[in-house]
Amino acid sequence: MTALPQQSGWRVLGIESSCDETGVALYDTRQGLLAQALHSQVALHAAYGGVVPELASRDHIRRLPVLIRQTLHQAGQTLHTLDAIAYTAGPGLAGALLVGASVAVSMAWALRIPALPVHHLEGHLLSPLLGPDPPAYPFVALLVSGGHTQFMAVEGFGQYRLLGETVDDAAGEAFDKTAQLLELGYPGGPALAQLARQGDPQRFTLPRPLLHSGDLNLSFSGLKTAVALLVKARPAEDRAHIAASFEAAVVDVLCHKALLALRQTRRTQLVVAGGVGANQHLRGELLRRLQAVGARVSFPPLDLCTDNGAMIAYAGAQHLLRQPTTAATPGTFAVHPRWPLQRT
Ligand code: KG4
Ligand code: ZN
Repeated sequence: MTALPQQSGWRVLGIESSCDETGVALYDTRQGLLAQALHSQVALHAAYGGVVPELASRDHIRRLPVLIRQTLHQAGQTLHTLDAIAYTAGPGLAGALLVGASVAVSMAWALRIPALPVHHLEGHLLSPLLGPDPPAYPFVALLVSGGHTQFMAVEGFGQYRLLGETVDDAAGEAFDKTAQLLELGYPGGPALAQLARQGDPQRFTLPRPLLHSGDLNLSFSGLKTAVALLVKARPAEDRAHIAASFEAAVVDVLCHKALLALRQTRRTQLVVAGGVGANQHLRGELLRRLQAVGARVSFPPLDLCTDNGAMIAYAGAQHLLRQPTTAATPGTFAVHPRWPLQRT
């Protein structure tokens, strides 16, 4: 292992390509985040109403070299000042993951530096630590993304215990499917949240699935069905009220279970991560309801809620700090489209 230089720490390039965002960032273990660049494929997939895996992979191939150059330039660095390259190894779309993994591993091999496989959800989970007021361990994490909705007990870096999760749709998936029912296009979460602002959240009482189940599991598919029936039964003018009532139901369930998770684990710190963590109504209600019981809640900066390279660079850097190595990774790798976080 080489000695750490005085001014800078280890410089880790992070590559995220698990779904429809190409993210690249450079993190320095002493100086923090040096630069980041992101390309969203939203426009590419919009016409299809969802992510087309093959198009996603091809676009990652097109964008990655440009974003890597851009990030290094922004940080005033070159490939030769990198100490490691972290990449999302899963979970996600197999082809999309393979693009990021093969770029990261071949660059690392050529530069004779380590390539660090990172779990996408670990990246999300640690993303609030990149914010201006990072939470301290231990905490309870609520991961709310397009593919996952989970409560995790986080005792420290690498110590994650699943407390409960959705038994069907993820919260983001429910937002996206409901948005589709309301003809708001793809991805629907932000558009639905915007429409909900003009509606009355109490106009319709929608189900709160598993609210009183006593455990930390969640369910959102019944809610989506209730919205489908409502959309058929009500005139178009009610769409904003339906959006607001839907958002209120999801937020209510998430807040209720978040309080339960803190009670059951005897913790007072909640950390929210993942795309749905950008939802302003969720942020406001969690702040209000947790404050009322003397608990704290932290969110990642808004631009780090959705997929990004910074969280991957950061998680990779934490692995490197704990298991320092300068050994080059051999040019072989594997990706894991399905990969439970607990086993990392
Ligand atoms: O974490 P993320 O970028 O990707 C996954 O790993 O899934 O999360 C994307 C999800 C999408 O379902 C999107 O609709 C949702 O996060 N989302 C939102 C908001 N912004 C993004 N949902 C509700 N309100 C928002 N403001
Ligand atoms: Zn994600």
